[in-house]
Amino acid sequence: MEQKSFSSKFGVLMAAAGSAVGLGSIWKFPYVVGENGGGAFILLYIVCTLFFGLPLVMSEFMIGKLSGKSAYGAYRKICGSNRWQWLSWINIMTVLAIMSFYFVVTGGCINYMIEASMDTFAGMDAEALTAHFKMFEGYAPTMVVYAIIAIVLTTSVLWFDVNKGIERLSKILMPLLFVILIVLAFHMMFLDGGITGLRFLFEPDFSKINAKTCLEAMGLSFFTLSVGMGILITYGAYMPEDQDVKSTTIQMILLETMVSLLAGMIIFPAVFAYGFTPSEGPQLAFVTLPAVFQHMFSPTLTSVTFFFLMCIAALTSTISMMEVAVAFIREATSGTKHPLNRHQSVVLTAIILVMTNILCILSMTGNAEWLTVMGKDLFTNLNAVANSFLIPIGALGLSIYSGWFAPSIRYQGSKAESMYYLFILRWVVPIAIVFILLEI
Ligand code: PHE
Repeated sequence: MEQKSFSSKFGVLMAAAGSAVGLGSIWKFPYVVGENGGGAFILLYIVCTLFFGLPLVMSEFMIGKLSGKSAYGAYRKICGSNRWQWLSWINIMTVLAIMSFYFVVTGGCINYMIEASMDTFAGMDAEALTAHFKMFEGYAPTMVVYAIIAIVLTTSVLWFDVNKGIERLSKILMPLLFVILIVLAFHMMFLDGGITGLRFLFEPDFSKINAKTCLEAMGLSFFTLSVGMGILITYGAYMPEDQDVKSTTIQMILLETMVSLLAGMIIFPAVFAYGFTPSEGPQLAFVTLPAVFQHMFSPTLTSVTFFFLMCIAALTSTISMMEVAVAFIREATSGTKHPLNRHQSVVLTAIILVMTNILCILSMTGNAEWLTVMGKDLFTNLNAVANSFLIPIGALGLSIYSGWFAPSIRYQGSKAESMYYLFILRWVVPIAIVFILLEI
């Protein structure tokens, strides 16, 4: 008999933290902070996470826990009709859009980890590493192979029931990830110039803050929390009966914020210590850091450890996204003539992902002009559509639904807490998101 829930509270927390902690925290957070002036942006990010992220995460968990279903079945069950079903379609589209490029980057991490272990980067300076990265980025076959490796790894975890696959693996990998992060951050603090990096990270310069940075901080906060796309609804459905949603939410948010900050504490001291600039953009992790590591006392070990860390973070996130797609397919086909079981849904999802990721790669490498829209390749467009449109719409729908239309999932805490929770969901989050959408 298939086990349809996690077996321990710790397992739920590690799986949820595993979803949240991903390339968003370790690859994207540091470069976005670098581009937006450091400390002040971090402050904004934390405010967004605490004020907007927290109630939304809690709502998703509660919708899942109460209904015992993932987004597709949950809205239908709680509403007793399919009036809010569209929200689950937005959710699944968001997750599909993200997965279609996320595996490409995950594959890149796996490739870099293997190359680092073979000492490929030894002696390369920033210029050589840039050329190396461009070569990787420009050659479709290697990228396809690594994206498929990432898909196969994720698929092999999902093959098992959730308590055996996702839960067991997260319980091992997440603590390991924390240990590696702390060791690396500690290592970096003792570099000459490391303190300048920490200053950049923690000293707020408010002159850098404007409407655009606020919006950027909010988008990043939702992306890194994996909120607004139904992922946490699915994990809520797998929670044991006696799990407390409020404390799980707070613990997950704290862990995720700590990891992002630790990633910054690893990256910025290293960048400053060796005279690089913090605003290198997306190539910060793939070019600047390997270049920095070459100057360190054990370049190979540090690079391999760092890319191993990125792989763990990325894979625990891809697992959560793919599980949502699998759960969606199962719920959507149940009750039809051809209900799909877990294994069939996993295989179907994997096939779809291989195809979308190949399209994404072909578009990036200039082999599929027809996928270029508005002068941008598919990777860039999917990323932009997910971040600036699908995630905000998903979060807006979620806040309106749980603030105004779903009394049964309302927060059951003290009166003051629940008034605060409702106020934020009813007014603050929707207004802020509409503001975001109008701004772009
Ligand atoms: N939160 C993950 C990260 O920070 C990304 C993610 C987005 C995971 C959407 C699941 C769903 O990388």
